Amino acid sequence: MNPSWQQGKLRELSKEKGIHVSAWSALGAYKVTWGSGAVVENQILQDIAAGKGKTTAQVALRWVYQIGSSAMAKSFNKERMTQNLEIFDFELSEDDLDTIKQIPQRRQYLGDM
Ligand SMILES: NC(=O)c1ccc[n+]([C@@H]2O[C@H](COP(=O)([O-])OP(=O)(O)OC[C@H]3O[C@@H](n4cnc5c(N)ncnc54)[C@H](OP(=O)(O)O)[C@@H]3O)[C@@H](O)[C@H]2O)c1
Repeated sequence: MNPSWQQGKLRELSKEKGIHVSAWSALGAYKVTWGSGAVVENQILQDIAAGKGKTTAQVALRWVYQIGSSAMAKSFNKERMTQNLEIFDFELSEDDLDTIKQIPQRRQYLGDM
């Protein structure tokens, strides 16, 4: 789950049933065989991030946190690991959250591999 595959129906059902949702591939598995740039290179997230002095990855992870889920992001890079934890010193506004809702949805696994 991530801003480009928001899993609205699943989250609604999980909420109803009291099930916590965790987001795998919260950064859209950027530069990974099974992933894409749909999150990290997303223009809407880039615009929000620029306005806050943050990165698109941080905005994506903050979005996961603010909708009440938990994110599992992977990095082999020390700086990006640190960056991915620095999401508690800013907030996404209601407007930001509404804008993120408009991001065109794209299934993570397209079945083309
Ligand atoms: N059990 C399952 O079925 C399942 C399925 C999917 C995922 N998962 C788990 O979920 C976790 C994450 O999934 P994932 O690895 O598919 O995808 P992900 O965390 O969405 O993306 C990882 C990619 O993003 C890059 N990255 C990390 N932080 C970044 C940042 N701040 N800015 C730019 N790029 C950044 C990483 O590169 P660098 O390493 O170079 O930073 C890596 O190429 C993993 O622990 C995985 O095992 C489990």
